[in-house]
Amino acid sequence: MALNYDEIVGKFDKYIFNTYTRQPVAIKKACGAVVTDVNGKEYIDCVAGIAVNNVGHCHPAVVEAIKRQAEQLIHVSNLYYTEQQALLAEQLVNLTEMDRVFFCNSGAEAVEGALKLARKATGKKEFIAAEHAFHGRTRGALSVTHKEKYRKPFEPLAPAVFVPYDDADAIREAITEDTAGVILEAIQGEAGVIIPSDGYMKEVREICDETGTLLIVDEVQTGFGRTGKWFAREHSGIKPDIMTLAKAMGGGFPMGAMLAREDVAANFGRGDHASTFGGNALSCAAALANIEVIKKEKLVARSNEFGAYLMKKLKNLNKDYVKEIRGKGLMVGMELSIKCEDIVGKARERGVLLNCTSDSTLRFVPPLSITKEQLDRTVEVLDGI
Ligand SMILES: Cc1ncc(COP(=O)(O)O)c(C=O)c1O
Repeated sequence: MALNYDEIVGKFDKYIFNTYTRQPVAIKKACGAVVTDVNGKEYIDCVAGIAVNNVGHCHPAVVEAIKRQAEQLIHVSNLYYTEQQALLAEQLVNLTEMDRVFFCNSGAEAVEGALKLARKATGKKEFIAAEHAFHGRTRGALSVTHKEKYRKPFEPLAPAVFVPYDDADAIREAITEDTAGVILEAIQGEAGVIIPSDGYMKEVREICDETGTLLIVDEVQTGFGRTGKWFAREHSGIKPDIMTLAKAMGGGFPMGAMLAREDVAANFGRGDHASTFGGNALSCAAALANIEVIKKEKLVARSNEFGAYLMKKLKNLNKDYVKEIRGKGLMVGMELSIKCEDIVGKARERGVLLNCTSDSTLRFVPPLSITKEQLDRTVEVLDGI
């Protein structure tokens, strides 16, 4: 028998760690860009599992691939070879122009792998990260995540220096003999969709090359078409030494990956890193189907086109409490001069799910398959509020 909303929340309150601020909705099912709660109310989803459901919720091709794979082989560990992991590795290497892949299960885990690899490859301990950066909550990833509130209770963390984002000179000045790597988001997500100026990434690449410092680009949030390119690093044309992926990789199925250039990857030998579930047959089958959908439905181009459409509509709202609208593809931030939590609540009541990041920025990261009508309705709801 299905639980009602109060029964579900009651069990959460009683049994689950109190680590999240949850919206008062219990979601039962989802399809495309629409989610339905346990009372049958429908919402246009501009959160998409926080930039995860790029191909839309429960895409039939991903569902079919998961079903088919689950009937044949779910998991065997990395003690053995599987066809699905081989095929996915090849796809990812081709798409990213990196050379090798390490599979894991989340963004934080991909970042952990990247930091460990850079540490081993250089023999150095320190990382340079950007102010307001978010790279995850495990201790290594947390050491390069900026927010004091997240870090403080867990210090001491691994050594890291924070410099302003979009300031290449600050990186040049911060690099010392102890610096193993620089880690940057290609576009800062949790900080409120912060897009660096043209030329920033290129300059950082040059500084890293001059000083022999490894450049890690975290594409956990920006990957798989989200910003109107397969990966956001393509906007600047640079190639990182190490790259991290997760979120939209499995079409909603949890997985992550750390990729590296051949000579960097060569520093990880047997036993240096591992993950029981990393790249299991089921997750790889889901990711292969997900990539196929992105290609077939031309979602990267659609992200570009529909992102521009959304930004134009938001700009037309012309409200005096809107400070800035910025974005690339369907990763759009609307910075307000007021806190946005109230707006998120009111939008939800009117059937639109939105996310507020860095207190005053509404972040729009809907499925790339969202329709113009659904975007129109989203803007109409905002206008009403
Ligand atoms: C850029 C970036 N890196 C890493 C992470 C951590 O990913 P996960 O929550 O899958 O551990 C996130 C999550 O939001 C992220 O946006």
